[in-house]
Amino acid sequence: MQAIDALLSRHSARALTEPAPDAGALELIFASAVRAPDHGRLRPWRFVLVAGGARERLGELLAAHLARTHEKPSAEALERERQKAYRAPLVVAVAAHVHPAVVKIPSVEQLLSAGAAAHAMMLAAAALGFGAMWKTGAAAYDPQVRAGLGLEPEDAIVGFLYVGTEAQPAAPAASREWRDLVRVLAWARGEPSARRAGTRADAACRGASGRFPADGSRIMRDLPHCRVSMP
Ligand SMILES: Cc1cc2nc3c(=O)[nH]c(=O)nc-3n(C[C@H](O)[C@H](O)[C@H](O)COP(=O)(O)O)c2cc1C
Repeated sequence: MQAIDALLSRHSARALTEPAPDAGALELIFASAVRAPDHGRLRPWRFVLVAGGARERLGELLAAHLARTHEKPSAEALERERQKAYRAPLVVAVAAHVHPAVVKIPSVEQLLSAGAAAHAMMLAAAALGFGAMWKTGAAAYDPQVRAGLGLEPEDAIVGFLYVGTEAQPAAPAASREWRDLVRVLAWARGEPSARRAGTRADAACRGASGRFPADGSRIMRDLPHCRVSMP
């Protein structure tokens, strides 16, 4: 699979089953994770692998969290929570070890790096023929769940990645429209005199609304000469 195909087809699995990635595939998944951008080379990533019987421990942690945070949860609710650990043959808790003392690199950047690592893991899993889903929920942010997974108090879980083999076709894709999300910031070269002179570039600029043009090539041709006001 080409990298661009993995990026353009990434999706959450609906249901996952055996087999999980084997040792070789896991090595590639983690090697991909630690290529995430990492301001200050802090290596803030932490990963907890939960596979096979260890999922029982995760299920217990999730159920205990529900019991702590809800008044008298039903037996069914507790069991539902326990069963979440069995959504896939492999669960990886992805966390950021946030170094608050490293003032130059704000905590948010360390969290973002862990998020980028999780995304890379999803893509690597897909490239190797596996499926994945990324979940959090209140338990992900609970100190006792964190401790129960062997994480440190400074570790912030950014997601539980459920990994295995896709058991169902993917859900229909949500809107993948991006043009409405992109604004183009451009400027008038030689501004303000170029604008006053009414150059050829100015004429092209009049059509530029600040939105990404339907014809993307115009970005390269015209917009570098334009001043476009941001909405
Ligand atoms: C940080 C983060 C936490 C998420 N937590 C949950 C979650 O707890 N439950 C859930 O159903 N989806 C969660 N999602 C969303 C799904 O992973 C998924 O991206 C979304 O349902 C869209 O489907 P798609 O990945 O196929 O585009 C989370 C996504 C992110 C980035």
